[in-house]
Amino acid sequence: MNFTNLLELDELARPYIETAAYDFIAGGADDELTLGENRAAFSRWRLRPRYLVNVSKVDLATTVLGQQISFPVMVAPSAYHQLAHPDGELATARSAAALGTLMVVSTESNYAISEIAKQGAPLWFQLYLQEDPAISEMLIDRAVHAGAKALVLTIDLPEMGKRERDIRNSFDLPAGMILGNQTLSDRAVIPIAKQDAGDPPTKLWGNTVTWEIIPWLHARSGLPIVVKGVITGEDAVLAVQYGAAAIIVSNHGGRQLDSALATLDALPEVVDAVGGRLEVLLDGGVRRGTDVLKALALGARAVLLGRPIIYGLALGGEAGATRVLTILRDELERDMMLCGRTKVADVDASLVMNPGLRFALTPYHHRRACRCRARN
Ligand SMILES: Cc1cc2nc3c(=O)[nH]c(=O)nc-3n(C[C@H](O)[C@H](O)[C@H](O)COP(=O)(O)O)c2cc1C
Repeated sequence: MNFTNLLELDELARPYIETAAYDFIAGGADDELTLGENRAAFSRWRLRPRYLVNVSKVDLATTVLGQQISFPVMVAPSAYHQLAHPDGELATARSAAALGTLMVVSTESNYAISEIAKQGAPLWFQLYLQEDPAISEMLIDRAVHAGAKALVLTIDLPEMGKRERDIRNSFDLPAGMILGNQTLSDRAVIPIAKQDAGDPPTKLWGNTVTWEIIPWLHARSGLPIVVKGVITGEDAVLAVQYGAAAIIVSNHGGRQLDSALATLDALPEVVDAVGGRLEVLLDGGVRRGTDVLKALALGARAVLLGRPIIYGLALGGEAGATRVLTILRDELERDMMLCGRTKVADVDASLVMNPGLRFALTPYHHRRACRCRARN
């Protein structure tokens, strides 16, 4: 488990994961353009540090939907953690708990959310709507019973992306691998009170789902709804209108629509469209403390980590995933000091500039440009 940063993980973890499973985890859709762009977008921004600030104490704590987290990095929902380690999501949840952060549990987790919840981390539940509404309702009930604090509706998968590595490898789950949330034998869960949600808008399940599902999910679960996969201002406005509590700017780690915008490129547009009416989070390519700073400076409240957590699991189970989160937290703390910022609220648009875009993008630079013009 000898790694010093998150960018090394991919190659280091590779020998510990079965070849086709590694490709499933590491790969993206089509030509993997978006996969690469998610990383490249971070390198287009530069930081504007301030000095002679007392940075002897740095506080990384923040909140997401009112939940306190010790630093603005959470665990993204990803399927099948047992591909990396037998302890799967139990290990992941323990590492999130150790670092004082939140884990988003995938619909496709190997362990049931009720088991994952016992590991101590606050949880959100990521929901893939199922063709059978009864199964979707069962998933929602289970999440509520397990104490999930929000439902995360993933919207960027109306159809599977064309993941060519998986096609070539004829990738399939190992025989006997269980999806913990979907074992129908455990339907014993008592349905939650329906809270006057009425019948599900049945036409809206499966790949015919439209925005009307959001108020229904909220009424059915009583939980805040987080919409994952927004990368345009237009969809951000719809998320607000339909009552979402938060957005995750995400392109599914480049695994769905290839050539979709890099998430950091999409972030300013989404933040602008939302205008503070809901919380905006981001995932995709976050690997460095400076990446976290750039996302926060452009308006994200927190970021989520996908693949590095899985690689950490492969390298050392709970200890590996804990080390991944610890490295990123320590980098962020160091980078905050180097930038003259002592708390998360200090990280605003004045911290970043994009040499390629000059004054064009951030509200801060826009205001500055206007002031300059006014003086001339
Ligand atoms: C192996 C794997 C499985 C994933 N499974 C899910 C999933 O079940 N639900 C979901 O909403 N997103 C899923 N994602 C997408 C992640 O939540 C996240 O958007 C993405 O991994 C972030 O990019 P990063 O891996 O570069 O950090 C998955 C990603 C990977 C790599």
